[in-house]
Amino acid sequence: MPDADAGPGYYAYLTYNVPLSTMRAHRLVAALAAADPRTVLDAGCGWGELLLQVLACVPAASGVGVDTDPRALARGRANADSLGLTDRVRFVEAAAAEATQEPADVVICLGSSQAFGSSADALHALYPLLRPGGRLLFGDAIWERPPTAELIEQLAGLGTVTDLAGVVDIAIDAGFRPLSIGSASRAEWEEFESGYLADWEEWLLGNTKHPDAGHIRAAADAHRDQWLRGYRDVLGFSYLIIGRSA
Ligand SMILES: C[S@@+](CC[C@H](N)C(=O)[O-])C[C@H]1O[C@@H](n2cnc3c(N)ncnc32)[C@H](O)[C@@H]1O
Repeated sequence: MPDADAGPGYYAYLTYNVPLSTMRAHRLVAALAAADPRTVLDAGCGWGELLLQVLACVPAASGVGVDTDPRALARGRANADSLGLTDRVRFVEAAAAEATQEPADVVICLGSSQAFGSSADALHALYPLLRPGGRLLFGDAIWERPPTAELIEQLAGLGTVTDLAGVVDIAIDAGFRPLSIGSASRAEWEEFESGYLADWEEWLLGNTKHPDAGHIRAAADAHRDQWLRGYRDVLGFSYLIIGRSA
């Protein structure tokens, strides 16, 4: 039963704050670990789950996660501690575009292009943060199907969104070559959206009479409606592993 005073959870039902299945995560981590990095940078890391998984696979690697969200970073530090990775990872509270950072062998930017501006801004800014010969995992919103004008307006906060071919073009234009191209499945989106909403829904079940219940219920209903009647199957999410030449 949730603790009413604590309010709804904070991404408590999500392993990753993007539509990412365990199976795809394992494949992505294996591909990044195969590059045998010594340094890994996660820009807009949240709690840095994928960063930690790469470090767990590559004992010689150390990593830095940068994010502006102190609660997410605290979760990352706690997870690093329980995995015995504290000595090999730093979670830094900073704006990714402003954090001074040495180029890394592997860079991760998952769902965090907004930290740099548009997708193109992000890919151009990430290029010098990746060592020559390195690998970048870039996950970003895309259109799976052409959106209506109404949907573009509703999701204006995402900035300019392109399709999968478009984001690959942008990556190539920024100097990368594509090594692996994928996009989130409907099942990944359903798991992600359900997990996102579960903070509110689980809390509401145990707190029907709480003074905050009305606005939390309204927020949950509005989000679910926007997903199921709006962007479901239209908004997608790309997973690119792209390389910088040696
Ligand atoms: C969709 S979440 C993805 C988090 C993480 N990459 C993951 O896959 O779970 C986007 C993250 O970007 C972070 N963020 C937003 N603006 C940022 C900025 N200017 N600098 C660093 N992080 C930022 C947010 O705090 C949030 O944790």
